[in-house]
Amino acid sequence: MLSRRKLLKSLGVSALSLSALPSFSNSWSDTSPLADPQDPAFWKSVRDQFMLSKDSVFFNTGTVGVMPKAVVDKMVEHTHMMATHVADWAYKDDNKEQFISGYNNLLPIRTKVAKLLNCEVGEIAMTDNVTNGMSYIANGITLQPGDEILTTDQEHGGGQSSWKVKEKRFGAVFKTVAIGKPITSSSEVYDTIIKALTPKTKVLMLSHMISGTGSILPVKEICAEARKRGIFTVLDGAQTIGHIKVDLKDIGCDAYVGCFHKWMGAPTGTGFMFVKSNLIKDLWTTVASYRWDDHADEGFRFTQRGTGNFAILLALEVALDFHFQLGPDNVYQRIKFLGDRLRTGLRQNKKVKIFSAKEEAMSAGITLYTIEGLTGTQIQDAYWAKAKMRPRSQGDVYGVRHSTHIFNSTEEIDRALKIVNELSAS
Ligand SMILES: Cc1ncc(COP(=O)(O)O)c(C=O)c1O
Repeated sequence: MLSRRKLLKSLGVSALSLSALPSFSNSWSDTSPLADPQDPAFWKSVRDQFMLSKDSVFFNTGTVGVMPKAVVDKMVEHTHMMATHVADWAYKDDNKEQFISGYNNLLPIRTKVAKLLNCEVGEIAMTDNVTNGMSYIANGITLQPGDEILTTDQEHGGGQSSWKVKEKRFGAVFKTVAIGKPITSSSEVYDTIIKALTPKTKVLMLSHMISGTGSILPVKEICAEARKRGIFTVLDGAQTIGHIKVDLKDIGCDAYVGCFHKWMGAPTGTGFMFVKSNLIKDLWTTVASYRWDDHADEGFRFTQRGTGNFAILLALEVALDFHFQLGPDNVYQRIKFLGDRLRTGLRQNKKVKIFSAKEEAMSAGITLYTIEGLTGTQIQDAYWAKAKMRPRSQGDVYGVRHSTHIFNSTEEIDRALKIVNELSAS
C-alpha cells in the first residue's frame, strides 16, 4: 500500500511538526489515502506521536482523551508567549490578536470544525464542552408548559440536565424511553424511540453514541421521522467527534453538540455547538456579551462568551490538523478494528456479558462488559494490579467501559483479553 509510506512520511515518524505539513484538504467527503488498520509499523509510528507513558495502558478515552505531543507543544508555546509578550498586545483587531479568546470570532478554527462536520461556519459556535453547548440550546429555545422533551433512559447528565431545568422552571415535560442495555438492533431502537413520540413532543434529544455502552443510534432515520412531525432534534456527540463519521448535512438534525477533549485529542475545555442556519437566528443567547444580538455571524454570537484561554484553542486547531492529516476514515477504521478485536475475544468467554449493542455495526471504540461474579471496581482494580491497564468501572452491574483508540495496539487488546480470561477462571 503506497498510502502507508505516504502517510508515514507526512506524519514525520519521530517529531511531528504540523506547521511544516501541507494545507489540509482531507475531510469525510474527500479521499484520504487509506492506511491499513492492521499495519503494526504504521500504527506504531502514530503511537510515537503521543507522550502517553509506555508503562501503562490507557483504555478510557470515553472519559478524557490523550493529546498528541504536537498539541501539547502548541499549548505550552502559546502559554509561554502570553507570559512573556502580553505587552505586545495593541488592541487593534479582536479577530486577529490571539491573546485571550472570547472576543475573537475564531473563524479559522470554526472553519475547520465546519469542514469536519460538513456544515456552514456560521452554524458553528465554540463552547467549553458538551454540557454548556447543550445548556445554550436548551436555554435558548422557548417551550410552553406541557410541551414534551423526549430522550432515552441512558443519557449523560451533561446532555440531559439542561432539559430537566426546562421542566422544573417552565413546566415542560421531560420524558425518557427505555432503549435496552444491550440494544438489540438499530431497527428495534428506531421503533422504540419513534413509538414514544407523541403529538406533544417538541424536542427529541439523543446521544449519537450512548456514553455508557458506546452504541451508535440510527440518528439519521430518527431525525427524518421527527422532522416530518415538526420536532426539534438535538444530538449529543460527546463520544463521536474524532471517533466516527459525523456528517451533519447527511444526518439532518437541527442541532448537535460535541467536544474535542475525548476522541479528538484536544485540550480539556474545548467543544462546539451546531444549530441549523434557519434556527440559530431565533436561539436566545445564554452567555451574553457585545455580540449577543448581532446576527451577522450567528456562530460568533454564541462563541463570544468572555475571556477564555487561547492556548487551548490553538492547540485544538493542531489536534484537528493532526486528525485531518491522518485521515478521519483511517482513524475510525483503526478504532473500529481494535474494538472489534476486543469484542470478538470477549464473546469467546462464556463468563463475560457484553452490554454494548448486539448488532456489531452499532459499535466502534467503546465496549461495555462485565465478568460473572465481579463488580466493575474489582475488574478495574485487577486490570491495574496485573498490567497497569486503565479501563473505567461502570458500577456493580455493568462492569467496565473499555475504550480503544489509535494509540492502542493489538498487543494491548490481546493482553487485556488474557486478563479477562484469568479473572473469569479464578
Ligand atoms: C454522551 C455524553 N454527553 C455529555 C457528556 C459530558 O461532556 P462534557 O464533560 O464535555 O460536558 C459526556 C461525557 O462523558 C458524554 O459521554
